[in-house]
Order: sequence, then structure tokens, then C-alpha cells
Amino acid sequence: MPPFIFFIIFWFSIFQNSIHFLSANPTASSCSNGGPRISYPFHLNHPQQPQTLSYEDVPSGFDLLCKNNLTTIHFPSLGDYLVVKSISYPAKRINLLDPRNCVHHVFLNLDLSLTPFQYFYVLKNYTYLNCSTSLPRPFMEIPCMSASDFHVYTVEPSLPLPDSCVAVKTVAIPFEYSPYLSDNSLGLGLTWDFPLFQETRTEYTVVSICMFVIVVAILVSIKVQWSRRNPGEKEDQLLQSL
Ligand SMILES: *[C@@H]1O[C@H](CO)[C@@H](O)[C@H](O)[C@H]1NC(C)=O
Ligand SMILES: *[C@@H]1O[C@H](CO)[C@@H](O)[C@H](O)[C@H]1NC(C)=O
Ligand SMILES: *[C@@H]1O[C@H](CO)[C@@H](O)[C@H](O)[C@H]1NC(C)=O
Repeated sequence: MPPFIFFIIFWFSIFQNSIHFLSANPTASSCSNGGPRISYPFHLNHPQQPQTLSYEDVPSGFDLLCKNNLTTIHFPSLGDYLVVKSISYPAKRINLLDPRNCVHHVFLNLDLSLTPFQYFYVLKNYTYLNCSTSLPRPFMEIPCMSASDFHVYTVEPSLPLPDSCVAVKTVAIPFEYSPYLSDNSLGLGLTWDFPLFQETRTEYTVVSICMFVIVVAILVSIKVQWSRRNPGEKEDQLLQSL
């Protein structure tokens, strides 16, 4: 077999292995037939079964759990589980739903700082107000956080505090309250990032380049030896090819 064919096959197999490793999903699974496909970096924890997965590489924060056929994710800062609506692996995006249909309760309480996640959308600081009387328009009350005796609003932090209100917290959130948010049609979009993945990828690239250099060196030395051993043959070949 001519060396260059060997070389192409060898290089191609390294390349394929890298691709396989990077998009590896030996444990791809889901919680229901139409549910999001769960694969690396996410990891499905089966509550009934002991750990069945062999992935030692899974970074913390990517554990998902099936509950009543729904895919869920747990954030310690929130206490409750959020439902995973969809996952896009190429876009590194996960869309979540709040089972309590109160996305502002999530915005107010979710602390992503110690997780691999960030909001997918551009953030803006808003102040949550808790008011003893309801405010006139253009203030829009967040119904799922309000009751008959208190009324919750999100406002720009620069707004002077109305008399009947206390400022609960100022947080960077993706959306101000709007009626669209109340019907749960707009998921909570998060994106993820974790250094392990980049490191692994870099290591693989370095390993691949080293292999490439070694293979080239071996091929060159084989070629040199071969042409030394068969000088006559080589000349014949050259003559034939002319
Ligand atoms: C989960 O899905 C299975 C099969 O589709 C169905 O039999 C079962 O009733 C579902 N469970 C719940 C809690 O929806
Ligand atoms: C929100 O306010 C904090 C404190 O003033 C500031 O550090 C942060 O950068 C602000 N975030 C955004 C998205 O404006
Ligand atoms: C608003 O105030 C009421 C009582 O005044 C309290 O029960 C409620 O938890 C508060 N809501 C928020 C979001 O702080």
C-alpha cells in the first residue's frame, strides 16, 4: 500500500475519533418519547436506579432528572425543579419552563453565579417592588407574585420608589414583566459554558498535532530507507512515469 494512502487512512481515523469524542453520546437518552434528547454534557440521574452511567467526566450542574416523564433540572438557589423544554447542543442552549408558571419568581430567586449557565438573552437590571396598594398604569403587576393585599412590580432601578412600596431586590434579568411572560409561552433560555470541554478539546488538538508530526516523521524515514534500498527500482519508476 502506498504510504500516502496509509497516511490518509490513519489521519482520517484520528480525526473521526476526535469528532466522536467531542460529540460523544454513549449515554444519550430521554425522559419520554418526545422529550429532549439528553447527551453530553447533560447527564440523566435515574432516581430509582443507582448510578448506571459510566461518564466520570460530567461536570456538576448538568444533572437532569426525570419526573412524571418530564425532564427536569434542579438549581439549589431556586429550591424547585424547572422543566427542560428543549436542548440545542450546537447552540448550547437549554429552554426551561417554570412548572408554577411564574417566570418572575425564577428571575428573582435563581442565582446562576455558581452554575455553568448564563441567561441566553441580554440582561438588564430591574428592581422588584412589593407594594401595599396597587399602582396605576403604566405599572404592570406580576399576577403570579401578587395577592389581594400586596402587589409586585418590576421597574427600572432609577425610578423613585413609590410611597406604598418597598424595594425587594435589584437583579439582572432578561425581560421586564409583560403579559407574554405570564402564559409560559416564553421559555427561560440559558446557555452553558464550562472550561473542561475547552481543555479537553485543546488537549485533543495538541495530541492530534503530535501524532501528525510523528506520522510524517515515520513516513519520511520509511521513504528515505526505501529509496536507499531500491535506487534502481526508483529510477525505473521515474522512467516509466515520464
Ligand atoms: C409516562 O409515559 C408512559 C408511556 O408513554 C405512560 O404509560 C405513563 O402513564 C406516563 N406517566 C405519567 C406520569 O405521565
Ligand atoms: C446591575 O447592577 C449591578 C450593580 O449596580 C452592576 O454591577 C451590574 O453590572 C448591572 N448589570 C447590568 C446587566 O446592567
Ligand atoms: C411582599 O410582601 C408580602 C407581605 O407584605 C409578603 O408576604 C410577600 O412574600 C412579599 N413578596 C415578595 C416578592 O417579597
